[in-house]
Amino acid sequence: MKILIIGADGFIGCHLVDHILTKKPNWEIHTLDLSNNNLAEYQSHPKLFTTQGDMTKMSDWIEEKIKLCDVVLPLAAIATPATYVQDPLKIFSLDFEANLAIIRLCVKHSKRVIFPSTSEVYGMCTDSEFDEEKSHLILGPIHKERWIYSCSKQLIDRLIFAYGKRNGLPYTLFRPFNWIGPKQDNIKNSKTGGSRVVIQFLGNILRGENIQLVDGGRQHRSFVYVEDGIEALVKIIENTDNCASGRIFNIGNPHNISSIRSLAETLLELAQKYPQHEANAKKVQLMDIPAADYYGTGYQDVQARVPAIWRAQTHLQWQPKTDLITSLSKTVDYYLHDAS
Ligand SMILES: NC(=O)c1ccc[n+]([C@@H]2O[C@H](COP(=O)([O-])OP(=O)(O)OC[C@H]3O[C@@H](n4cnc5c(N)ncnc54)[C@H](O)[C@@H]3O)[C@@H](O)[C@H]2O)c1
Repeated sequence: MKILIIGADGFIGCHLVDHILTKKPNWEIHTLDLSNNNLAEYQSHPKLFTTQGDMTKMSDWIEEKIKLCDVVLPLAAIATPATYVQDPLKIFSLDFEANLAIIRLCVKHSKRVIFPSTSEVYGMCTDSEFDEEKSHLILGPIHKERWIYSCSKQLIDRLIFAYGKRNGLPYTLFRPFNWIGPKQDNIKNSKTGGSRVVIQFLGNILRGENIQLVDGGRQHRSFVYVEDGIEALVKIIENTDNCASGRIFNIGNPHNISSIRSLAETLLELAQKYPQHEANAKKVQLMDIPAADYYGTGYQDVQARVPAIWRAQTHLQWQPKTDLITSLSKTVDYYLHDAS
């Protein structure tokens, strides 16, 4: 199996590479990313071929690799909610246009594509659990610019589905629901909204800053530990007996639900167990802030988001195993153990 991963140095990509190199010794991985931080430790591995560069400027390189590989995972995207509001055009050009170019090359060369959709495509759906084939995808008005990410991903999902039906493109879509774990974002990034929620809060704790809870942190999310998610992804890549072909899978953990306020409280408790961070963690206060003040008026929130995962359980024989407190403990340990 030869696999092309674009955006491989990111959170999902680097865990996928680690899993494959450790557990699938015959698979060969080719990667492209702007950065080379998370993958630096695997540089000399004989089954890993990394290239550093910008996917928007390397179409010839990408086409050659697509021809060479059996399966393509275009993982590069911007996935931080603050950027959806601050720079929607950048979201459209990378998450939509640049990725569409890759999908079209997969169509041209009849190569299997495994595309990261997102839990965000369900938008403000009010179903108690979001179902891949039944739930409605409900977005807000155009001036709520935060929906550009959801809308861009949804349109790529629809295009992949159409290419599958009309051109025979072999594909699987997977929808991560708040994957968490080590190597997610840079904890030293002190920009408000610059990281995803767990790392944003851990960065605040590390620096002894108050944690800002958008609209009081009353929103609920379900979190899945990255290793559980990667197990599902590897089963999709293996595609034993065509179990993943032409399907969409929510990949999340419906049992690991927390409000954002409660998430902040748990992280504070966990951080206080590290002597070097105890003093800072004790002085952190939880401060409520209106969404418009934190993100800008182009923001609109999703109150709750829980995945139905019976399709992944049935077709992939997959089950998330890591409970929330274990997932958070492992994440906190990675970020705070050696940090000063
Ligand atoms: N992590 C989650 O919980 C989650 C949830 C829903 C959807 N997703 C989707 O899964 C995919 C991977 O997510 P992630 O969490 O690993 O994201 P990430 O931000 O951690 O990684 C993205 C990687 O893409 C790279 N990249 C960005 N622009 C590039 C360019 N022009 N050329 C080459 N590389 C470029 C970045 O350097 C980064 O390493 C994304 O499409 C994201 O939208 C992730």
